[in-house]
Amino acid sequence: MSEARRIVETGYDSSAERYLEWSARIADDPRLRFLAELTGRLADGAEVLDLGCGAGVPCTKLLAERHDVLGVDVSATQLELARRTVPGARFEKADMTAVSFPDNSFDAVTAFYSVLHVPREEQGALFARIARWLRPGGWFLAALGCSEANGVEDDWLGTPMFFSSHAPDVNRRLLAEAGFTLVLDEPVTMHEPEGAATFHWVLARR
Ligand SMILES: C[S@@+](CC[C@H](N)C(=O)[O-])C[C@H]1O[C@@H](n2cnc3c(N)ncnc32)[C@H](O)[C@@H]1O
Repeated sequence: MSEARRIVETGYDSSAERYLEWSARIADDPRLRFLAELTGRLADGAEVLDLGCGAGVPCTKLLAERHDVLGVDVSATQLELARRTVPGARFEKADMTAVSFPDNSFDAVTAFYSVLHVPREEQGALFARIARWLRPGGWFLAALGCSEANGVEDDWLGTPMFFSSHAPDVNRRLLAEAGFTLVLDEPVTMHEPEGAATFHWVLARR
């Protein structure tokens, strides 16, 4: 396992409860608005893969109300919380860059604030794999990083954490190269307890 992955896994294992409490204090998080954009396009019972599902709230839980959901996360502690909170979904402990699924397995793949923990030089290959896992016409909804970043923050919610991302133009190019067409493409700023943070929201169609 690479050092970056070890930092992410052990970081979320130790900060899972704190992350949950911290993220609940973000009043203007747009994730429910984007989630509604996706679910409005999905049929009941659609098969959805949630990458980096965390503790499963609020997004995995809402998805599981109407869809057949598989949550994947690298942190055992996050998955323990998710299994308790979202009994209606299935969960698997895996690294999203290493896990594999047959082609054409899902109607949608979601990744809320999770791809930004994957080394950015691997993100293009991840998008290509996601495209293959989706059925033709399937949807990919993600909150990606929005600036050039690559490194470890020494103290993020009390633990070291690895972040890696590209600017929106590069995200767009990598998604296009993976075979996606962007339907929604919005850098959105929200206010975390420590200050403003901007993410690149994309809803992309295979
Ligand atoms: C910022 S949290 C977001 C959790 C949840 N999606 C949400 O919106 O609250 C990022 C999550 O992605 C997971 N994660 C990071 N890198 C991952 C990887 N390579 N494979 C699977 N999960 C990963 C972390 O363990 C963590 O639970």
